[in-house]
Amino acid sequence: MSKIIFLTAITAAFLSLSGCAGPGHDHAMGARAGGMAMASLTPTQGSTVRGIVMFRTVDGQMTVVAKVSGLKPNGEHGFHVHELGNCASTDGSSAGGHFNPDGKPHGPQSAPHHAGDLPSLKADGQGVADQKFVLTGLSIADGVASVVGRAVIVHAQPDDYSTQPTGNSGGRIACGVIAIH
Ligand code: CU
Ligand code: ZN
Repeated sequence: MSKIIFLTAITAAFLSLSGCAGPGHDHAMGARAGGMAMASLTPTQGSTVRGIVMFRTVDGQMTVVAKVSGLKPNGEHGFHVHELGNCASTDGSSAGGHFNPDGKPHGPQSAPHHAGDLPSLKADGQGVADQKFVLTGLSIADGVASVVGRAVIVHAQPDDYSTQPTGNSGGRIACGVIAIH
């Protein structure tokens, strides 16, 4: 399946789930009412990792859906929202550190953690991850917790959820800027 068809199919599926599709849909109103933000992940230099990450806020909780290909088969990959919506550098370093509006340490969902700390991606035997996470501490609405204008990073290695401030998850193998869709 080509990348374009892959992304289009995923987006259509997500839009139909969110009730966001249809004639006359107002994107601005959608954003206020919950709406959706999205990042298209593109590979950093030497990587072939691509995908799409969608964010929706429902009843104060953030739902994150990630569809990513080109990962290590059966591998686990650190996955975070980083502070800066800048994927211009060849190694993803332009996205800065983990998004951390509350001044917390790096950690797992079950303990104090950066708001941008997401559960690691887990790839299947074909190197594809297709996952959904429900989180608190992030939003797509305006405010300090907003992910809009920030970046999603996929790392080469698993997140140990303890090494400060990165989780020791290695290089950055894909990057995407998050924008309201
Ligand atoms: Cu990261
Ligand atoms: Zn972190």
